[in-house]
Amino acid sequence: MRKPLTKAEETALLDAAQAARENSYSPYSKFKVGAAVLTEDGRIFTGTNIENASYGLTVCAERNAMFAAVGAGQRRMRALALITQKLPGMAFNSPCGACRQVMSEFMPPNTPILIAVLDNNKRTVYRKQLRELMPFPFDKFSAK
Ligand code: THU
Repeated sequence: MRKPLTKAEETALLDAAQAARENSYSPYSKFKVGAAVLTEDGRIFTGTNIENASYGLTVCAERNAMFAAVGAGQRRMRALALITQKLPGMAFNSPCGACRQVMSEFMPPNTPILIAVLDNNKRTVYRKQLRELMPFPFDKFSAK
């Protein structure tokens, strides 16, 4: 059983994701995303979505956050938070398939994924586990 996140850890992770979202480079979609991962050593790494005039080169906030952690030597992740704006007709926006596959590389299936939505200044949090988002990841050469 993984150690559950404390309320303080959860708030710190969501605050970090929200702050990273402010740095979003998204002039094409105008959709700002922030993400943060909590690593086993208690540190938080953040990322935001970075777009490009060659649209397909865009990298999502979640992958940028995870890659920042791995680049700093932290491969074991306890939780990931992401935050977007509220879109009409959508309760929340969940991570794309590519990011879910990358999560599966570095997080066990019971890892909490916090999906937050900003509606004006109100933050609503939806709590999922990676296994719900990515039940059958490709897993052949996963990093250990
Ligand atoms: N985006 C993310 O950062 N994370 C996701 O999980 C889905 C989409 C970004 C990519 C692009 O910059 C914008 O949101 C619109 O697709």
